[in-house]
Amino acid sequence: MCTIRYRLLCALHIVTLCCTSCYHLPRDFTTMNNTPLRTLAKRTGVQFGAAANPHLLVRDSRYAALLARECSVLTAENHMKFRFFQPHRGVFDFSQADVLVQFAEQHGQRVRGHTLVWHFRLPAWLESNTWTRAELLDVMQTHIATVMRHYRGRVCAWDVVNEAVADTGGLRSSLWLSVIGPDYIDLAFHYAHQADPAALLFYNDYDAEGLNAKSDEVYRLVRNMKARGVPIHGVGFQCHWKFDDYPPLNDVVSNIARLAALGLEVHITELDLRIDKPVTPEKLERQAQAYREIASACLRAPNCTTLITWGISDAHSWVPYFFENCTAALPFDKHYQPKPAFYALRDAFASLPPHP
Ligand code: XIL
Repeated sequence: MCTIRYRLLCALHIVTLCCTSCYHLPRDFTTMNNTPLRTLAKRTGVQFGAAANPHLLVRDSRYAALLARECSVLTAENHMKFRFFQPHRGVFDFSQADVLVQFAEQHGQRVRGHTLVWHFRLPAWLESNTWTRAELLDVMQTHIATVMRHYRGRVCAWDVVNEAVADTGGLRSSLWLSVIGPDYIDLAFHYAHQADPAALLFYNDYDAEGLNAKSDEVYRLVRNMKARGVPIHGVGFQCHWKFDDYPPLNDVVSNIARLAALGLEVHITELDLRIDKPVTPEKLERQAQAYREIASACLRAPNCTTLITWGISDAHSWVPYFFENCTAALPFDKHYQPKPAFYALRDAFASLPPHP
């Protein structure tokens, strides 16, 4: 069950927030009581986790052991996307996502579902066809209902709609928008709620974490959805940032707070902090500080309940493929060794007193 867990903002934590020198202290993996991130995070009322790849869970035991040890929640980096779940119309393939969900269950981890309705990663049969509104609504409802019923009670939160707001304002052009119209978003959430009334339903996006035109647009979108009675429970902040260029954390805190005022949770859904080559010890330390700050921003906000990194180790990350000349975005290096970012996350989580 994903429930809102309220945490106290304490004086100790404020001190830690201001103590930017802490992350320079040498940390010994073995002398900090070896407490996993999942344990430290959970005692503050937050779930810590990572996006995972089911193929690697099966064939790389060190990868699997790291995720089992550090994470209390997993999500699928790719294998819960439309193209993977429904490669042909009406033919659903749950095999790989099932591997991930079973792994999570074996290790006492929750699962976040990502993602049901997105403009990207659609199968060819869906993109190349010409649809009427009624037909595409049927496709959308069937997909949402089939997937969510398959995982009912096993996936506690879903990114129902992903990246629907355009970078330039308004809604992003997509198959869904052009054929169904702007109400495709409301309808997706209604279908999702019908399919699994207990699941938490999220709108997820990037570049809308701080205070800016896009986050204003997302805010208006979800505020209006709430006003119309659409079953939405939270907003996902992707947080794909550069280690030295990210929104002011006070803006992120304010944005989380205005969503709290609407009664919405926030999950940090895809955090990674890429470094431009060459990677130096100084850049790794600055990256650690950035990890500490975003974790602290989430911990300061009672409605920020989950923090997920987009992968766990630099051995398996989308960053080098997607961002030219960038790498090393995650808390563990490509040999699965903890980086300064890992210790910074650990410090951030350890700095709060236990949730009462
Ligand atoms: C990315 C995956 O990490 C890549 O492996 C894939 O090639 C493309 O998608 N926002 C999202 C995620 O919501 O689903 C994206 O994941 C990263 C950006």
